This record gives sequence, structure tokens and C-alpha cells, in this order.
Amino acid sequence: MKKVRIGSICNYVENEVEIDGWLYNKRSSGSIKFLIIRDGSGFMQATMIKGEVDENVFKEVDNLEYESAIKVFGLVRKEPRATSGYELLVKKIEIVSKAGDQYPISLKEHGVSFLMNYRHLWLRSPRQNAILRIRAEIIKSIRNFLDDHDFILIDTPILTPAACEGTTTLFETEYFGDKAYLTQSGQLYNEATAAAFGRVYCFGPTFRAEKSKTRRHLMEFWMVEPEAAYVDFDECNEIEENLVTYIVQQVLKNKKNELKVLKRDISKLEKVKTPFPRISYDEAIEILKSKGVKIEWGDDFGGEDETILSKKYDSPVIVHRYPTKSKAFYMKPDPERPEVVLGADMLAPEGYGEIIGGGQRIDDYQLLEERIKEHNLPRESYEWYLDIRKFGGVPHSGFGLGIERTVSWLCDLNHVRETIPFPRMLNKIYP
Ligand code: 4AD
Ligand code: MG
Repeated sequence: MKKVRIGSICNYVENEVEIDGWLYNKRSSGSIKFLIIRDGSGFMQATMIKGEVDENVFKEVDNLEYESAIKVFGLVRKEPRATSGYELLVKKIEIVSKAGDQYPISLKEHGVSFLMNYRHLWLRSPRQNAILRIRAEIIKSIRNFLDDHDFILIDTPILTPAACEGTTTLFETEYFGDKAYLTQSGQLYNEATAAAFGRVYCFGPTFRAEKSKTRRHLMEFWMVEPEAAYVDFDECNEIEENLVTYIVQQVLKNKKNELKVLKRDISKLEKVKTPFPRISYDEAIEILKSKGVKIEWGDDFGGEDETILSKKYDSPVIVHRYPTKSKAFYMKPDPERPEVVLGADMLAPEGYGEIIGGGQRIDDYQLLEERIKEHNLPRESYEWYLDIRKFGGVPHSGFGLGIERTVSWLCDLNHVRETIPFPRMLNKIYP
């Protein structure tokens, strides 16, 4: 019998196959037993009829705990009443290993903190499976988009000698008698490699010791960061909106079943279209004030503020030209209005908040020197970064897209903790 995976079962109707998986659920009504088996690629009903399978196996299944590992052999049939549309008419079952104890995650509702402690097992459930499959699709579409648009993947280091996104969220570690930090962003290195390769991106885990508990923050999250030489602020925003639109389209096209499992309202995602609306920070402040928010020019937006702003639009909104004082040291001031920078955040619709931060970088050597000083950064750690301006500095721009926030939005989740296999959260690193 051919060994097949549930995900491709539609190709084997009326064929006898072997499915290697686990027992997810079961129920019985006299001479018929229904097993739900899962093999990682999907969930499927397997029907056992008394007299058609080995009598011992028929009985033994009653004592089998959930999540026991089994190999199931049988005939694939179309079955419109089954959730997957197919069923397996069981001929034989082989027990690979019996679950030793009662499986802690039962099929009824559990609280999230309980489930988080069993994250290693929770990942087996249909919903978590769907979320992480969508995550994989998002990552694949990002790589395809960038690879097809002439960006080359360049890996940047995780252990770094200096900060990129401010010194308050650094994870410090000891490095042979010196201090080192887990990277907050590959951007600074990307700027060096963009001068070597023109268009680059890095894609990896980044770390922020965010001492706040919100539904949008993790200590360890994944970010894709494209960076391009001779690309200005407006061109950078266009790349961002094209990339995000492509991601949404690919997920809609290739992950229909998963979106269905999550009960995602896809009509909202279908409305995402370029060009995305663009509003200046100044306009954003006015909008918030008109909604009764107590906020002044120069203040940062909180999560609630972002929600108010993004809810106005069907597509993500690009908020540009933030106060220079509130943004990172490397952002280029607008030549026409130096009190604001050529930097933008992209806010996802439906209240999902910031998914992208980016913009044009300072290309002037002296100005960058001043900024490093103003931000009290140790110059010796940034000498190499200054060199990029000393030897053929050019206008260049880039951005970072947070994977978990994007997954959260596309899956319509109310917290980023389910968007990554093993979330690292404030004061929580188990399992
Ligand atoms: O806005 P951020 O801090 O930008 C940068 O790090 C730039 N150096 C990127 C660049 O221009 N190359 O972070 C970018 C994105 C945010 O928009 C958000 O989606 C995500 O990274 N992000 C987080 N996601 C989860 N948990 C956190 N603690 C996050 N911090 C940022
Ligand atoms: Mg940001």
C-alpha cells in the first residue's frame, strides 16, 4: 500500500493507502467506530466497521488514549459529510506507540495560560496547525517576492557590539570579557551590504527586551529587512505596499483551508489593494484629536491610537514623517522640514497596528556623526557604519516587516503569542 499524507488525500480516491499519524479523536456507535487521525498535513476521518477489521484491533482502539501513534491502512472514499470531504475505510491498524497517560489537552475549551504551558502539545491542534501553516506561507511569499525583485538574501549577525533601535531594549550578554547584545535589527549591517550588492534583505530572529506586556510584543520575533541603495523614501514605500499586497494574495490563494479553519473573514483581506493610503504624522495627530484622544504633536502613538488610525481604511495605511526626536538615530530628516524624518510606519487594518517600520537613512557623514553623539552612542562601535558614508555614500532606504504581527493580522488573532511556535514573552520562556 502506498504511504500518503492526508494533505494530498484527494489524489487517492478509491485507492488503498497507508496513513502514518496520531489518534486525534474517536467516537463509536456499536459496530462502527470513527477515528479522527492527524498526520501533520491534515485531519481525516477513519471509519472502522466491525467484521471488516481484525477483531483485536477493533477492541483495542477503545483503550487507546488520544495522541497514540498509529498507522492506518485502508480505502480512500469521498465522504461529503466528513469535514475534510474524504474518509478512510479502515482495513488494518498498527499501533506504533500508545500515549502513556491521559492527554492533557482535551477537546473542550482550555484557558490560554494552561495551553501556553503545554505549547509543545498544543501545536498539534487544528487551529495552531493552520496558523503556523499560514506563517510558513507568509515567509515563503516574502522570500519569493524579494528574490524575484532582485533582492539578495544576506544574513546579518545575531551577536552584535552595538544597539540599532535604542539602548533601552537590549539583551546583554558577556562576550569574552566584553559586552555584546542580541541583535534588535539587521539594518545597520544591511546598509553595508546594500552598498556591496545594491539590494539586499536579511531575515531572521531579532530580540527586544520590551518590558511591557501587550498583545503585539514578543521578546524574540522574526523580521524581514530589505535595504536598497539608490532607492529614496517614496520608492521604499512603494516596495512595501507591493510586498504586503503580494503576501495577502498568496495567503488567500494558497491557504484557503487554513483560513477556513480559523473562520477568517476573507472579504476583508480581499479589499487590500495598492496604492495604500498615506497620511502624514501631522494629519494622524489631527485625526486622533478629532476623536477625542489626548495627544500632542511629538507624542508617540500607543497601540490604541494605531487602532483608531488604521480602522479608517480597508488597506494598510502608511503614516509618514514622524518627529525627528521620536525616531531612531539613523533616520534622514526631511530636507524641507528637518523636524520630521523621511520615515514611515505601516499600520495594518482591523486594528492590528504597526507591521512595518522603515524609511530613508542619513547619507551625510557629518550629520550621522552628530546623531550618534546626540543619542549618546559609543562612537567606536559605529566607526564601520560611518565608513559606509565615507566611501561612496548614496541615498538609500529600507524597512523591517514583523512576521508575527503580519501573521496575527492575516489570521485575525487577538495576540501575537499564537503566531510563533514557541513565544518568548515577558517573564516567560517555558517551554
Ligand atoms: O519599527 P522597528 O523597530 O524597525 C526596525 O527595527 C528597523 N531597523 C527596521 C528597518 O528599517 N530595517 O521594527 C520593525 C517591525 C515593526 O513594525 C513590528 O512589525 C516588528 O518589527 N516588531 C515587533 N514584533 C513583535 N514584537 C516586538 N517586540 C516587535 N518590535 C518590532
Ligand atoms: Mg517601529
